[in-house]
Amino acid sequence: MSFHRTTSFSLTLALLALTLFSCQPNGPKSDNKTAQNNTPTTAKSDWWKEAVVYQIYPRSFQDSDGDGLGDFKGSISRLDYVKNLGVDMVWLNPVYASPNKDNGYDISDYQNIMKEFGTMEDFDRLLNGFHERKIKVFMDLVVNHCSNEHEWFKSASASRESPYYNYFHWWPAENGKPPYRWSIFDEKGDAWEYNKATNSYYLHYFSDYQPDLNWENPKLREEIYKMMRFWLDKGIDGFRLDAIAFCSKDTNWPPLPEQYKGNWGMYYANGPHLHEYMQEMNREVFSKYNIATVAEALGDVEGVMKFVDPERKELNMAYSFEAIDFGYLPKEYKMPDPKGYDLVAWKKIYEKWTNAFETKGWGTMYLANHDQPRMLTRWGNDSPEFRDVSSKMLTTFVLSMRGTPYYYYGDEIGMNNIKFDKVEEYNDIELLTNYAQVKAKGGDLKRFLEGMKISSRDNGRTPMQWDNTLNSGFSTGAPWLKVNPNYTTVNVAAQQNDPASNLNYFRKMIQLRKNTPALIHGDWELIDAENPDVFAYLRTLDGKKVAVFLNFKAKQSTVRTDLDLTKAKVLLGNYTDPSATVTLRPYEALVLEL
Ligand code: BGC
Repeated sequence: MSFHRTTSFSLTLALLALTLFSCQPNGPKSDNKTAQNNTPTTAKSDWWKEAVVYQIYPRSFQDSDGDGLGDFKGSISRLDYVKNLGVDMVWLNPVYASPNKDNGYDISDYQNIMKEFGTMEDFDRLLNGFHERKIKVFMDLVVNHCSNEHEWFKSASASRESPYYNYFHWWPAENGKPPYRWSIFDEKGDAWEYNKATNSYYLHYFSDYQPDLNWENPKLREEIYKMMRFWLDKGIDGFRLDAIAFCSKDTNWPPLPEQYKGNWGMYYANGPHLHEYMQEMNREVFSKYNIATVAEALGDVEGVMKFVDPERKELNMAYSFEAIDFGYLPKEYKMPDPKGYDLVAWKKIYEKWTNAFETKGWGTMYLANHDQPRMLTRWGNDSPEFRDVSSKMLTTFVLSMRGTPYYYYGDEIGMNNIKFDKVEEYNDIELLTNYAQVKAKGGDLKRFLEGMKISSRDNGRTPMQWDNTLNSGFSTGAPWLKVNPNYTTVNVAAQQNDPASNLNYFRKMIQLRKNTPALIHGDWELIDAENPDVFAYLRTLDGKKVAVFLNFKAKQSTVRTDLDLTKAKVLLGNYTDPSATVTLRPYEALVLEL
């Protein structure tokens, strides 16, 4: 998500920094009840450093009943596909009961399943299916806010006397108007919504369907920990902590500083008690299980490091937003800079974060998820000429960096942005809110929609392209979001048995990472940092050196380096005839053992 003032959820989160998952070894029920994994660097407890995560957006993965919406039975039918990718963990976007105003990020019952996805028994079958295949499962933990249809909120919003009133943040109307706070998914941009029955305003940093939970209330925190234990006792392997950096608030509600403009994540995130709560959560829950955790974290390196410094005993991994939100015009809602992005500056962001996590903690690597467009369109080149090679180049990048890779469903076959022309084709609350805001201000809607063809979240949520039959084999009914028309050629069936396909390149790259410890644990150092076209780096472990050269441009480019390549061995390349050279063809990727 963004947290630019005028809109963007993904940028906003970028500033906040998320804390992701935690998972456990070898899945079956209660295997996760062993030692806590926060001890620094012992092989057993750090299994999550060596894992490759595959993210499944269940509503778009596979439908089984023809209602056009993915479901558990559908995902179960694709278990072997996931197994054959070679991944170790799966991150499932929210599967809890929800009215789906924000596709499951508005939870109405934390211990029940979204009816559209199936039943708890179906969920158990899916979980067991992954575990039987030695794949761990992360759940999305959305606890900064819930849904306004959650029983807690229904009761709280009916009366100030409700035992749940203090589970939320309220501003009594007799005190006048609440101090201004921005909301990401609110057309008026106002995070306080008036509630008549209690004559008070409730706080919602996201839409008014998503009231913020009051983490300053110990009873609420205990409820959350209880609910987390419920899922962990079922045998899940960890959590991605959604929007967690927002959970602690300064309830004195001081006026926002002037610098707030355009950067509200910085002033909303990382509240006064955030890390106390993370440590409490670790003591009360995580420390009792052998799981992994990852935060959607916001802020600078120092702030994000707090989540993952093992000595602090909070979480295992965090993902941050600085690199993923790069290349948008300032102060606008995810508007791509028409000049493109400056590779040298982008590399420096990766250098800063990667170096920081080399000293302590552990990072993540991702180029896409459900809050981002498709990596091929955003960071590569989805033209017919270069889609194949640039998609493989990006796959090489994600899987050769330091930090646990998070890889998004569909990227393995080179799915790209659908690029909707009309606002009616979109589903995403973020986009619709921003569209309404631009419209209300009399802004340039045409320009806005052009920009969204590159950056909107729905580009990354279109149904999985399995084959060239009706609706790409995703559903026999009309899909909830259009299938990309290129499914007739870009699909799993077409790539499954082609050794040169994107899909098989992804599998090879996973195996290469697994068989090359330097790619996982090795130091990381930029090569030819000022090169405007090539992203090149060296991974070094116990004297073993692996160089990665990635040409990010549609032209021949040369790496300037003193490295001796005369004895270099090509471990993998994205062209059919790779050789150890510094002269790279358009979007060429080379992984070289020196
Ligand atoms: C999720 C988004 C969601 C938001 C509000 C984010 O961290 O990744 O998809 O819209 O939280 O819950």
